[in-house]
Amino acid sequence: MIAPPDDIDRIMSVMEQAFSPEYGEAWNRRQVSDALVVGSCRYGLIGADGAEQLSEEADTAGFFMSRGILDEEELLLFAIAPQYRRRGLGHILLSRFIVSAKNNGMSRIFLEMRRGNPAAFLYAAHGFHEIGVRPSYYRTPDGNRIDAISQELSFQD
Ligand SMILES: CC(C)(COP(=O)(O)OP(=O)(O)OC[C@H]1O[C@@H](n2cnc3c(N)ncnc32)[C@H](O)[C@@H]1OP(=O)(O)O)[C@@H](O)C(=O)NCCC(=O)NCCS
Repeated sequence: MIAPPDDIDRIMSVMEQAFSPEYGEAWNRRQVSDALVVGSCRYGLIGADGAEQLSEEADTAGFFMSRGILDEEELLLFAIAPQYRRRGLGHILLSRFIVSAKNNGMSRIFLEMRRGNPAAFLYAAHGFHEIGVRPSYYRTPDGNRIDAISQELSFQD
């Protein structure tokens, strides 16, 4: 899914604010645009007012990026900018992503997250459950190690 440069700007503006540098989770512009050249990668935006189609002047509150492989969609990045959090926008964007994956014929969504990330509450509310752990997968600059948790949402249950 090719993204127009304006949409990459929107994704990057959220990316730069949303992810703590401590964990090295944010992607740079090159990584985002390269991924979106690949036909199997998709993205979605959400405006500060919850809108899916953003007008030129609208503030971008969040985005997702995902990749489909066979019948499985992997959620690669999911973020809401700090100033727009705790207003339900994460719920709205995740619901849209799940519906779109289902409509694209996927039978399962997969994601990986850092243990302790509050996003776990959001994913659990939408039916994701833990399927595996990669012990000490993330390493913070101060030497702490944090597990990566794999989660899935299956549409076949
Ligand atoms: C995770 C994130 C997307 C949530 O966005 P949001 O717009 O604040 O989400 P919502 O307002 O829709 O809240 C969704 C639920 O998430 C949970 N939640 C979100 N932030 C939370 C926090 N700081 N502490 C505890 N629970 C939290 C709550 O269960 C909440 O539901 P509730 O308000 O009904 O109780 C946002 O905090 C974010 O971008 N974080 C940084 C990037 C990131 O870590 N992304 C996930 C990578 S795996």
